[in-house]
Amino acid sequence: MRMRKKKWAMPYLEANTDFVIFQPESNKGNWKKILNKDILHIEIGCGKGDYFIQMSNMYPDEGWLAIEKDYNCAAVAAKKALENRPDNALMIAHDAANINEWFLDEEVDVIHLNFSDPWPKSKNSKRRLSHSNFLQQYFKILNKNGKIILKTDNKKFFEYSLIEFTNFGYKLENVWVDFRDEDHPEDAISEYEAKFMALGQPIYRAIFSKSNVIM
Ligand SMILES: C[S@@+](CC[C@H](N)C(=O)[O-])C[C@H]1O[C@@H](n2cnc3c(N)ncnc32)[C@H](O)[C@@H]1O
Repeated sequence: MRMRKKKWAMPYLEANTDFVIFQPESNKGNWKKILNKDILHIEIGCGKGDYFIQMSNMYPDEGWLAIEKDYNCAAVAAKKALENRPDNALMIAHDAANINEWFLDEEVDVIHLNFSDPWPKSKNSKRRLSHSNFLQQYFKILNKNGKIILKTDNKKFFEYSLIEFTNFGYKLENVWVDFRDEDHPEDAISEYEAKFMALGQPIYRAIFSKSNVIM
């Protein structure tokens, strides 16, 4: 569901450009240097930020970059993150449609897709973050051992994603059809994830690596 417009969102984002980046292409090739970390994670569609905020606390030696196109969500996420200004995380307030323009080839280590919008109508399939147009771009920016970790509550979107990733040539490293059935303290629970867990719905998760892709 779309978040209501917040009057303070854009002024807040614009007042915090040391943390919120509007022109990510200007940092292309320098993300690890800027974050002063050797490992770079990106989360595309971070929503209100719960996942990357927790993960950047849990893994302080790794760098985290959260991407969100909706300025209202991005502002909520930035405000939460800036309560404890993490030195290993930044946000990008932008649509990820041309994400390969923001990173050098192989600059990214892990891509996280948490509860991405499923866009159920086929006329909108290109907006899905697991559409082949995105997979092509992920392939370029991920390093040779890079991984993509996807979680969703949506069975149809999960099946679609499994097919898209494997058809493209990514290797399916691991798959769960009820990820939260067991404890997984190594992985934070996102805002949407918490909602679906409270409803008793299973959480689907898959890890893909690009090591199989032959271009
Ligand atoms: C369903 S919400 C999930 C939020 C969060 N990941 C979670 O699990 O709680 C999906 C989010 O992805 C964002 N999003 C969708 N497509 C995007 C894109 N192309 N670029 C950046 N953000 C995107 C939406 O604005 C929305 O905030």
